[in-house]
Amino acid sequence: MHPKLHVADDNAIDEAARAIRAGRLVAFTTETVYGLGADATNAQAVARVFAAKRRPKMDPLIVHVGRIAEARSLVTDWPPLAERLAKVFWPGPLTMVLPKSDIVPDLVTSGLPSVALRVPSHPLAQRLIRASGCPIAAPSANRFGRISPTRASHVVAELADQPDLAMVLDGGACEHGVESTVVRLGAGAGDVMHVLRLGGLPIEALSEHGQVQVVRASHDETKAKGVASPGMLERHYAPATQMTLAEDREALERELAVCQGQRVGVLCLNRDALGESLMSEKWEMFELSRSGDLIEAAANLFVTMRAMDAAGLGRLLALSLPERGLGRAINDRLARASQR
Ligand code: TXA
Ligand code: MG
Repeated sequence: MHPKLHVADDNAIDEAARAIRAGRLVAFTTETVYGLGADATNAQAVARVFAAKRRPKMDPLIVHVGRIAEARSLVTDWPPLAERLAKVFWPGPLTMVLPKSDIVPDLVTSGLPSVALRVPSHPLAQRLIRASGCPIAAPSANRFGRISPTRASHVVAELADQPDLAMVLDGGACEHGVESTVVRLGAGAGDVMHVLRLGGLPIEALSEHGQVQVVRASHDETKAKGVASPGMLERHYAPATQMTLAEDREALERELAVCQGQRVGVLCLNRDALGESLMSEKWEMFELSRSGDLIEAAANLFVTMRAMDAAGLGRLLALSLPERGLGRAINDRLARASQR
């Protein structure tokens, strides 16, 4: 076992909290993906997060807090809609972007006037925040642009060599498996929610509380306007092996035809989605959920992409999932992983 990897017992959490207070980094389990945490009120500690991830530029980080009251203390405006969404969906996979107070260093928000806030539900994340006594800024604990980690071993493989990383706390596999849904609440814009990143909280659930607008910036728009939310960068979550997303079975068939002679892996929801006619000994099939359950599929997504990437295949193909519930967030990640 790697010396930085720790089973998350009381002793390990106390040690991790001391490391956070000392301005060092701790990787920890959340219900979505593993986070690379630092004291959000310490700009130097936050700078170490960017360095460890090798983010090419300073992208804003999500600040994790233990309770709604702590979130409120970090913003200058807390509209009724924020209160409603917080009461319904926190703790959980929802991140809300709101005008930041001066307590939050500019580095955390990359100079943006707003801060992204989330109350994670995983007990380990909750215990670490409480023991540290500060809000914890944490991006996903992967190298920039790579697949998000859903197991402690993923973090160890990618980041353990970073000297500023004090510990990796192992709280097991992540339940949701895709990152939180990021929502910007318009100031005075009534009950409009701008979804900046699709994620673990389906937009069907959000739309029970107001109007939902999914912000989709094309690559050109993103370049022209500056990145509204870097999670919207087109290429992201990328395996090293070239991956292509097929919208439907016909498109997949065409892709398979041009992959002759290569060892190919096909990612799909399950056998039924792929269909008898496309089943073949010639390629390796990777099912996200045998029973076709989108929640299970999301939890398996990144671990399956890692397995495909490690399988020594020449080409990876993926078949789009149904565009509903968590299927939307999964398709979003697959599309970004397929950008070149
Ligand atoms: O589930 C998650 O959200 C995980 C776990 C660790 O909590 N964290 C995560 O962080 O995915 P990261 O850094 O990989 O993604 C943060 C997303 C990015 O898309 C970023 O652009 C957006 O949140 N974001 C952060 N602060 C923002 C802000 N002030 N305005 C707009 N977008 C912001
Ligand atoms: Mg990330």
